[in-house]
Amino acid sequence: MQSKINPWSSNQDIETNKLFSEFGIEPIEPLLDKIKNPPAFLRRNIVIGQRDYGRVVDAMAKNEKFFVMTGFMPSGHPHLGHLMVMKEVAWHVQQGGIGSVAIADREAHAVRDISWEKCREYGKEYLKCLYALGFEGRTYYQSRNNDLKDLAFESATRINFSDLQAIYGFSQDTALAKAMSVAMQVGDILFPQADDEPAPTVVPVGLDQDPHIRLTRDVSYKLRMFLVEERCESGRQYISIRSKNASPAAMEDLASEFPGAKVYEGHIDISGGNLEEIREIVRNVEIRNGGYGFISPSATYHTFLQGLQGRKMSSSVPESLFGFYEDEKSVKKKIMGALTGGRMTLEEQKKLGGEPEKCSIYLLNRFHMLENDVELKEMCHECKAGELMCGTCKKETFERVKEFLSDFREKMDECEHKVEE
Ligand code: TRP
Repeated sequence: MQSKINPWSSNQDIETNKLFSEFGIEPIEPLLDKIKNPPAFLRRNIVIGQRDYGRVVDAMAKNEKFFVMTGFMPSGHPHLGHLMVMKEVAWHVQQGGIGSVAIADREAHAVRDISWEKCREYGKEYLKCLYALGFEGRTYYQSRNNDLKDLAFESATRINFSDLQAIYGFSQDTALAKAMSVAMQVGDILFPQADDEPAPTVVPVGLDQDPHIRLTRDVSYKLRMFLVEERCESGRQYISIRSKNASPAAMEDLASEFPGAKVYEGHIDISGGNLEEIREIVRNVEIRNGGYGFISPSATYHTFLQGLQGRKMSSSVPESLFGFYEDEKSVKKKIMGALTGGRMTLEEQKKLGGEPEKCSIYLLNRFHMLENDVELKEMCHECKAGELMCGTCKKETFERVKEFLSDFREKMDECEHKVEE
C-alpha cells in the first residue's frame, strides 16, 4: 500500500526522500541555472522539490503569461512558518506572474472548527503580510467566491471516495465538509485558469501539501475533453487526438481544424505536425466547446524551518515560533532561549566548534534573516571553527529579527487599507 501524507497534521516530519521516490516529486536543482538572479530560497535549497516547474521557468524566461497561486488556512495568526510561501508568491509576482491567493476559510471552518468571524480576522492578517512583502493580485475568501464554489463542484465530479481514501486515508467517519474543503482547494488551484484562460500555474507550498497537488493534477487531466498523444505504429509516427468526453459537435469542430486528418469514431489521427502547436489548437477547440483546456498545474515544495526549541514549528507550541505582532520582549526571550547547535561547555565549543546544521538560530538566518550569502557563510564558518559563541550569535540574530519585525510591521500597517472590504 502506498504511504499517505496527512496535510492537516501539525507534525511535519516528512521523509523527503520518500516524497521524491514514491510520489515523483523532482529536485529543483537542475532548473536553477535557467533562473535569473535566483532568490535565497532557491539558492539555498530551501525550496527543494518541484513538479512541472520547468514550464513556469520557461514562461518566466520568455516573459510569457503565467499564474502564481497559493492558499492559507486562517486557523490562527500568521507566523514565521508561513513566511516562506509568502515570499515565494511575492517573488513570482515580481517575475511577471499573475498573483492569486485564497484564504481557505471553508477549510479552517471544516477542519479546525474556526468561527467565520475569526476566519475573517486571521485572513486579514495573512493578506496584510502578503501585501507587505510586495504581493499584488487577486485575493479571496473561499466562502465568498461563487465562481470558485462552482468550479469546486465541477471538480468534485471527477473525485470519488476511493481517491479520497487512497490519497488522504479518509474513512467512514470523515466529515463531508472536510472532503468538500479538498474539492475547494482543487478549485482554488484551477481557478486562475478557469477564470481567465489556460496558462502555466505555479503553486508554492510546503511538502505536506503534495497530496492536494497530486489530486488537482489528476482532476485537471480528467476534466480535459481531448487527449493528444504521439503514437508509433510499424515505424510510422503520428499524432492521435482522442476524445475523453467530447460532444459530437466538438468532434466535428476538431476535425475541421485538421483537414488532412483521418477521422475515426472518437479520435482523429494526424501524420506530421508540431506536437506543441497541435496541443494549443486542441486546447482552443476545447475551450470554444465549453471545456476548460487546463494546463496541469506546477508546484514548488519548500522544506520546513524547525522550531526555535529544536523540534517542529507549530502554533500549538508557542516557544517554537514568533508571530509578526508579538511584542519585542517575548520575541527576545524565545530567541535567547532557542536550542542551538552549541556544545555543553564553552571549552568544548571552542575546541570542537558548533553544529550549525542542527541549530535553530542558524536556520532562522538561513531561511529569513540573513540575505547576504557571504555573511551567512562566514557565520557558518566561524561557528564551526569555535570562534562564534551562541550567546553572541543569538544577540546578533535578535537584532536582525528586531529590525525585520519593525520594518515588516510598518509595512503591514501601511497595507491595512488594502484588506478592508
Ligand atoms: N490547505 C492549505 C493549508 O493548509 C491552504 C490552501 C487552500 C491552499 N487552498 C490552497 C494551498 C490552494 C495551496 C493552494 O495551508
